[in-house]
Amino acid sequence: MAVFCLCSASGSPGVTSTVLGLGYQWGGSVTVVEADPSGGNAMLTGMLRGQLVKPGLVELAKAGQAGLLSEGLARLAVPLVDAAGVGIPREILTSDPGQVWATPRLSLVPGSLTFEQAPILTKLWEPLMVGMRSVSASTGVDFLVDAGRLGLQGWPKAIVEAADVTVLCLRSSLREASGAAAWAKKLAAGEFAEHQLRLLLIGDGHPYPVRDIAKEFKVEALGQIPWDPKRARVFSDGAGHGRGFARSGYVAALRAVAQALQKIVHADQVPTRGNSM
Ligand SMILES: Nc1ncnc2c1ncn2[C@@H]1O[C@H](COP(=O)(O)OP(=O)(O)OP(=O)(O)O)[C@@H](O)[C@H]1O
Ligand SMILES: [Mg+2]
Repeated sequence: MAVFCLCSASGSPGVTSTVLGLGYQWGGSVTVVEADPSGGNAMLTGMLRGQLVKPGLVELAKAGQAGLLSEGLARLAVPLVDAAGVGIPREILTSDPGQVWATPRLSLVPGSLTFEQAPILTKLWEPLMVGMRSVSASTGVDFLVDAGRLGLQGWPKAIVEAADVTVLCLRSSLREASGAAAWAKKLAAGEFAEHQLRLLLIGDGHPYPVRDIAKEFKVEALGQIPWDPKRARVFSDGAGHGRGFARSGYVAALRAVAQALQKIVHADQVPTRGNSM
């Protein structure tokens, strides 16, 4: 099992929404970790609309300092899909987050509250990477990490560097593509050379289609998530699904990308269906 990390170079292309969307379409056990040092608890305040207050990375950093990082990961992960796989259960508002790893198929380790907590997190990333690897190896859970914007104070470099697959997300405007170009080059070489690097285009592919950007950056493309503001708001802001959500092109693309990611590291175990939502 493996650690997958999504990040961006500039703008807000949709990393957080995409990570959550991928989690729901993963098909196997997966834990989403919000490792964005800019704070704001985007997942708890966004998709979960502030209805749930749970400790996250800062608590995890404390567990790490006490040598209990793996235990902290298990204790702090909030289940998002119940054992029957039926979507965000209402019970999550009151449930005890102390779950065993095998039970929830999708769980979330929330991020930090404010950017001022970034210095506390800088020492967390390396042990967290080691902890995710060890939990993943012993339980079969994959990790999907939202690393936020690259290069911010306290950014999770150790995770971006050592993840099995790092995905640079971007939109297709000249402004965003040019912001991402230098990072694509940096992430493909030197200290970052060990991970598999992929590009993920979020949006409509105009003016630059994903294959042109991939060719220009010399980085393989993972695919494209279509421009769909209404459906993306399900994950970024907890909007209602509306009719046809599960059959939409947006969800189909999330499922295809989830499968493509897993195929990179464990080619023989690609799931055939997503977590229902
Ligand atoms: N595929 C998409 N189509 C249209 N809008 C999208 C898509 N994905 C995300 N969005 C929208 O883009 C905005 C930013 O999304 P999100 O917070 O996921 O981006 P981010 O890259 O995590 O940003 P930040 O760097 O600020 O953390 C949100 O309003 C979200 O609904
Ligand atoms: Mg984000």
